Amino acid sequence: MYILLSCAVSLDGYLDDATDERLVLSNAADLDRVDAERAGVDAILVGANTIRRDDPRLSVRSPARRAAREAMGKAATPLKVILSTGDLPSGAAFRADGESLVTSGTVESVVGQLHARGVDRLMVEGGGRVLTEFLTSGLADELQLVVAPFFVGDSAAPRFVHDGRFPWHADHRATLATASAIGNVVLHRYLLSVGAVDRHWLARTIELSLRCPPSTTAFSVGAVVVDASGDEIAWGYSRETDDLVHAEESALAKLAPDDPRLPTATIYSSMEPCSGRKSRPRTCSTLIRDAAIPRVVFAYREPSTFVDGEGAEELTAAGVTVVEYPDLADQVRDANRLQLGG
Ligand SMILES: NC(=O)c1ccc[n+]([C@@H]2O[C@H](COP(=O)([O-])OP(=O)(O)OC[C@H]3O[C@@H](n4cnc5c(N)ncnc54)[C@H](OP(=O)(O)O)[C@@H]3O)[C@@H](O)[C@H]2O)c1
Repeated sequence: MYILLSCAVSLDGYLDDATDERLVLSNAADLDRVDAERAGVDAILVGANTIRRDDPRLSVRSPARRAAREAMGKAATPLKVILSTGDLPSGAAFRADGESLVTSGTVESVVGQLHARGVDRLMVEGGGRVLTEFLTSGLADELQLVVAPFFVGDSAAPRFVHDGRFPWHADHRATLATASAIGNVVLHRYLLSVGAVDRHWLARTIELSLRCPPSTTAFSVGAVVVDASGDEIAWGYSRETDDLVHAEESALAKLAPDDPRLPTATIYSSMEPCSGRKSRPRTCSTLIRDAAIPRVVFAYREPSTFVDGEGAEELTAAGVTVVEYPDLADQVRDANRLQLGG
């Protein structure tokens, strides 16, 4: 299950003010973006205090998005999940539209319960206690944090998170995927899980593969090397510097062989690193092993169009961790339509 956390905070990190009035931190354009995110999930989850204080509908608002969901055979609005052990107002707005579930338990057990109901994508919208539980559980994949350009300035107001042991700290930073201004607010997208980070970098390799000069005799591949702190330290793509160079080879050529970051880096490639090669003495699998990179992530296993690829097996046998994301393979195949004939 992909777990997306979404909230808006003031510049001083508050989710709300301490008054009984609902504080709108975001703006119309961002609320519309949140509506689009809601339309793309199977369930929306909040804590009981958010219901008690704000009485949100938790529905997809746009008629077009509701209709699009229905056209796909889904309910117009995702399942609404409320975490609570106490009383909720009987006339709460969330009950008015669509299916809802009031439940309780550990984050792990709630996620298990939702998974059993067919929820594959969950959006957690707060408040602070619920966000803290999901962040400290280590189960969250992504945080979409919107920062509004004003201060609340009242320590009685609810903070973004409560105290807790978070997996991200000065020596283990979350991956910032994008930061974008939406009018006067800024949306930060942080990737929190290994899977979300891997997918982010694989998307970058697929983008790079689209820059390859066309060829009918070799695949179009993109590659990036990412260091242990999550920074991209080199990138490359097929035929970038000469007609024969491979993506991984091109990326690695930009780094000194004894670069101290390599033994803790990950190399991402849109396609399995090659293990047989007519054009050069060293294959990409050999180059990766020689660079002492301990982890390789790719999307598409090399088909035997040009050579029989056994890069994944070779690297695994050499003690390298190899991770494959076959669900992204279609995008790599698309980038290689010319070579694959379709
Ligand atoms: N700015 C934003 O994006 C945003 C978004 C959402 C909310 N908010 C704000 O956040 C504030 C509320 O935050 P909060 O930290 O006070 O509360 P919260 O996280 O909304 O809700 C906490 C409550 O949820 C229930 N709960 C949490 N985890 C549970 C679990 N594992 N099992 C069963 N019940 C569980 C408990 O309710 P019981 O008492 O029923 O046990 C708990 O008291 C509000 O002011 C709201 O405006 C802001």
